[in-house]
Amino acid sequence: SARSPVTSSMIGQRAPVSAPPKPNAGWRPCSRAKNGRRHAVSERQLPDFVERDVDLTTRTTLALPGRAALYAEIRDARQLAMLAGDNARRRFVLGAGSNLVLTGDFDGLLLRMAIRGRELVGDDENAWYVRAGAGENWHQLVLWTLAQGCPGLENLALIPGTVGAAPIQNIGAYGLEVAERFQSLEAVDLATGQTLRLDHAACRFAYRDSVFKQEGWHLNGQRVITRVTFRLPKAWQPLTGYGELAAEADRQQIRQPHPQAVPNAHFRPNLRSNPGPTPRQVADAVIAVRRRKLPDPAALPNAGSFFHNPQVSAALAERLASAHPGLPRYPQADGRVKLAAGWLVEHSGWKGRDLGRVGMYEKQALVLVNRGGASGAEVGALARAVQTDVRERFGVELTPEPVFL
Ligand code: EPU
Repeated sequence: SARSPVTSSMIGQRAPVSAPPKPNAGWRPCSRAKNGRRHAVSERQLPDFVERDVDLTTRTTLALPGRAALYAEIRDARQLAMLAGDNARRRFVLGAGSNLVLTGDFDGLLLRMAIRGRELVGDDENAWYVRAGAGENWHQLVLWTLAQGCPGLENLALIPGTVGAAPIQNIGAYGLEVAERFQSLEAVDLATGQTLRLDHAACRFAYRDSVFKQEGWHLNGQRVITRVTFRLPKAWQPLTGYGELAAEADRQQIRQPHPQAVPNAHFRPNLRSNPGPTPRQVADAVIAVRRRKLPDPAALPNAGSFFHNPQVSAALAERLASAHPGLPRYPQADGRVKLAAGWLVEHSGWKGRDLGRVGMYEKQALVLVNRGGASGAEVGALARAVQTDVRERFGVELTPEPVFL
């Protein structure tokens, strides 16, 4: 099975796991809030790690204003067990806030995932298994696995967000989706307090989609991911075929064989003769492409791609392509055709164009940016304007990728 023990030298440095909060004396009846108003749901008092009236502006990468009535930083899964069963209260689970449009104040309980820890938990003949806490930074995990000599996540370098969020929308970039490196995850069911383990099939992964979105758990916080285990195949191959990444790999001249290409190459002797680029070189190429086209949220607030790439019938794709020869098309296994939303947005006249204090980014039309001080309402208005123009021009419906809260 997958779980052979590893020696401590293979484990590398673990992030310190902070001590769990002391269990609260229990749930006591709560009568009135200080200002005399009742809390929205006040039958039971909340554990003392729950804060009130917390500003969220700096907690999402679009930097939109809003406050959470109740807010808890979750550093340990046992905190979730303490919150379980309170089913009348609205809940929402927040990671790095990099795929979120805050439309205003949130009147429920916001759980900010901060469970840390990353470790190589085992390996077998075919793969390494790496487990990480939901609150770990995604990009730091990618770099750490590379430093451990366990490649496989490098195409997903620099994607903003947390480990726990990665499977929810099945993050993907440059020819790889996280589903292809996923083994299992642990989650707590907040209705019952039980810990669950979901394997690959149970997650029902699809393009930017999983059971967490299909069942609405990403909106109601019913099942909260605490840890994720990744499966990193030892038969590593560089994935540099994706258009822009291939161009960057050529520019960096890393598609040729490289003598010290692959750490742990002893597992695959045939790679020594023609190893190609190192995983780290692939990561660096991905990072270079992303830095060129995608704005750093710290400098220009954004939430990555704002719309899904739409999938349309082969017939519609044919019709559109004959009218617009430049339209990028990606045929799918099911016969449908994925179109590039960025191209549709650009060719509807929205690339680099603003509406109020928000706009579609000048270097990548699919990214909606906050030029400074924008509100959630302005984001909604721009999204609708773009959707309308793309619909009228191309007859294609765009759906937003981020979650609206
Ligand atoms: N394009 C344009 N104009 C634009 C932007 C794109 O014509 O303004 C064209 C490009 O020339 C290219 C095609 O559209 O032919 C695709 O563009 P690109 O390779 O930049 O990728 P994308 O489809 O816009 C997707 C993901 C990104 C991911 C990249 C790279 C979605 C919704 N987006 O973007 O993911 O990083 O591929 O793999 O699937 C995200 O989900 O937040 C995200 C950034």
